[in-house]
Order: sequence, then C-alpha cells, then structure tokens
Amino acid sequence: MRLRVFRSADAVARVFARDVARRIRRNPSLVLGLATGRTPVPLYAELVRLHRASRVDFAQVRTFNLDEFLGLPTRDPHSYRSFMRRHLFAHVNLPRRNIQFLNGSTRDVDRECVRYERAIRRAGGLDLQILGLGANGHIGFNEPGDALNAHTHRTRLRVATRRANAPLFDGRLNAVPREALSMGMATILYSRRIVLLATGAEKARCVERMLRGPVTPRLPASFLQLHRGAEVWLDRAAASRL
Ligand code: F6R
Repeated sequence: MRLRVFRSADAVARVFARDVARRIRRNPSLVLGLATGRTPVPLYAELVRLHRASRVDFAQVRTFNLDEFLGLPTRDPHSYRSFMRRHLFAHVNLPRRNIQFLNGSTRDVDRECVRYERAIRRAGGLDLQILGLGANGHIGFNEPGDALNAHTHRTRLRVATRRANAPLFDGRLNAVPREALSMGMATILYSRRIVLLATGAEKARCVERMLRGPVTPRLPASFLQLHRGAEVWLDRAAASRL
C-alpha cells in the first residue's frame, strides 16, 4: 500500500482535495465513493472552498456513500445523508440525481442492497473510494468478526462504533441505531483507486496493524493490503507507531 504522511490533518485535507479536484478536471464524470465521520470533514470543507474558487466543477460527478444507519428516515438530521448535505452536497453543484445513498428507511433491506450494487455497476464502478478508519479497524460498516460480507449488506454495529457515532446524536448512545446498511468488502475492493484517510493519535495502533499485521477479518481494513491501488494518507499522529 502506498503511504503518505503529512504534518497535520489539515495538510492531508488540502493536498487530497487538490488531488480529487485534478482528477475531476481530467474526468468530469468521475464516480466517487464517499465516507462520513470526523476524518473527511476537513476534506469536504476544502472541496467546497475549491468549488467556490471555481477550481472544481461537480456538475457531472456521481457519488455513492459507503453506508447509512438503518431505521432513520432519509431527512432525519442524524442520518449520514443529512451529514453529507451539511458538509458537502448543499455547498457544491452536484446534481441531486447524481447522488446515490443507501436508503436506511427501506422496508425491503435485501432488495435495497441489490439495488445499490447494481447502481454502482451501472455507473461503471467506483473510480475513487474515500475511506475513514474505525478505531476497531472497520471500513464502511464492515465490523471486525469471524467473517466479512462481500457485498452491500445489513450489519449490526459494535458498541464501540455506536459510541464513536454518539456525538452525531448529541452524545446519546441509546439514540444511535444498532444496525446499518453498508457496502461490503468486495464492493470497496472493486474500486479502481482507494484512499484511506486516518488522522489523530487514537488511530495510530490500528494503522500499524492495518499496514504491518496479517490480513484478517478481525481487522477489516487489513484487506486493503490486497488492493493494488490502495493508498493510506496519514497525519503525523496517526503515523506515530510506524
Ligand atoms: C462512515 C464510515 C466509517 C468511518 C469510521 C471512522 O461513513 O464508513 O467507517 O469512516 O468509523 O470514523 P471517524 O472518521 O469519525 O473516526
């Protein structure tokens, strides 16, 4: 895996946003896989800034988000869709029809997962998947376990993951849904390019295991070692154990 280490989380966001903008200029209908969470927030802020400076045009870009909580209406302010609206979609010229999301309020979960896989395939696959790293090694909501799911699926969230998401729910752990829908490991690994972002000292141990340890379902991010185009972009704190 290609490793890049930057002075700060802001530097990671600045350089990567310029990289994404360059790729969109080269391929205006780029298919982007997007993550939510704390890590990509500075990246989205930087993309908004570049868009306002007319340095990136999202008119033909297509996006697929990695995951969504199960049981939350789309418009719920705590949904990942609302998160993306707040941080990116409301501030750039990405047409609504180009934004794809798993529907967390679906009545037919199996059908929704199949629909998502097909939509990704119909778009020609993901050109660039942006990932964050769960402190327990999850990517998307592929949680550590004895086995992993290949394709988009329903998943039960670990307590640690729900705790990490509690700030989105005003700190109320009980309000964080217990289940979610998530792209699977193959959905992610089929992406042509993958960039995992990790910032902050609390990710350092997991980063070390992901890069130096064995490939294991106990640490889903370790599967990125199998991908030819996977890159890991870190700040110094996240790289401190390497
Ligand atoms: C969110 C997602 C998760 C997060 C991970 C890290 O869409 O897919 O895998 O990327 O939980 O979250 P933060 O960035 O908040 O540490």
